[in-house]
Amino acid sequence: MIEPLIDTFGRVHNNLRISVTDRCNIRCFYCMPAGDVQFMNRRELLTFEEIERFVRIVVPMGVNKIRLTGGEPLVRKDLHLLVEKIAAIPGVKDIGVTTNGILFAEQAQALWDAGLRRVNISLDALDPVRFQEITRREGYEKVIEAIHAAKRVGFDPVKVNAVSIRGMTEDQIVPFGHFARETGAEIRFIEFMPLDADNAWEREKVLFASEIIERLSAEIMPLVPIGDHDPHAPASEFQFADGVGRIGFIASVSQPFCMQCNRFRITADGKVRNCLFSLEETDIKSMLRGGVPDEEIAAAVRASITAKKEGHEINTARFIQPDRPMYSIGG
Ligand code: 5AD
Ligand code: SF4
Repeated sequence: MIEPLIDTFGRVHNNLRISVTDRCNIRCFYCMPAGDVQFMNRRELLTFEEIERFVRIVVPMGVNKIRLTGGEPLVRKDLHLLVEKIAAIPGVKDIGVTTNGILFAEQAQALWDAGLRRVNISLDALDPVRFQEITRREGYEKVIEAIHAAKRVGFDPVKVNAVSIRGMTEDQIVPFGHFARETGAEIRFIEFMPLDADNAWEREKVLFASEIIERLSAEIMPLVPIGDHDPHAPASEFQFADGVGRIGFIASVSQPFCMQCNRFRITADGKVRNCLFSLEETDIKSMLRGGVPDEEIAAAVRASITAKKEGHEINTARFIQPDRPMYSIGG
């Protein structure tokens, strides 16, 4: 193995998130703009072969966890073929996907057979009307179907990502608590982050993890922290006191976890980002297409990691929202 990807704060980067498209079949308001979306030209997207080459370059530097993201990754044609290519790379231990679930039930078996083992399904409300308000599209039933299909096919764990927005999703907290208990899916409440295309994020719209914990503890039963989980996972994990039902919190705003971060990203158009909130990126696509040798690409990735900042500055006046909204970064 070559030298691991360690930044100047000693953080080891073994976790790569690959965005495979910026397109999406729904329009969550906290991500996509309300009006027309200017998607990337298809020629801009890295091919599966280019992605595979990139993964083969970074795995010897210690990358062993891969997650496919979007836009919506399942709208990229034949995604299972990419999973197969990545699964065949020695050193890759874990491949996951973060999906909105709309197309998941129909692809679940093919993705599993290709080597996918983890799935996070985004669902912010357990109610079709509220679902449509948030996503500006239909599809609630398909997402519920996706959660059941994931369980049936054998994905374990099945996680559900629910973005928490003050003034909008408070009434979903308790239903999600019951849903976690009934289905065995882990619900992960994610604090609303300033990555929306419409620049409408405000601190006042963030529904904090601590409030959700209080609500669930009061209305269902106390939540107790689960001690032995991965220290690099962004979620802090809990279960209900009787051991039934897992709940996680990604408290990016109220309790930033930047000092534990082990992730970096490559966008669908081949730019490496060392943070969700980076204002700079490294153009790997031009290198992949320009006949640049692997060692130089590896060096460019290393330079990006070395330049990683201590953390996001959402809680300071210095914070600048990146130009790329969530759908073109990949979450
Ligand atoms: N804040 C918090 N979470 C977000 N996601 C997308 N945009 C935001 C945002 N502005 C979530 C999606 C998905 C994951 C990739 O990130 O719901 O679950
Ligand atoms: Fe699509 Fe994901 Fe953005 Fe929602 S958060 S619009 S599902 S890319």
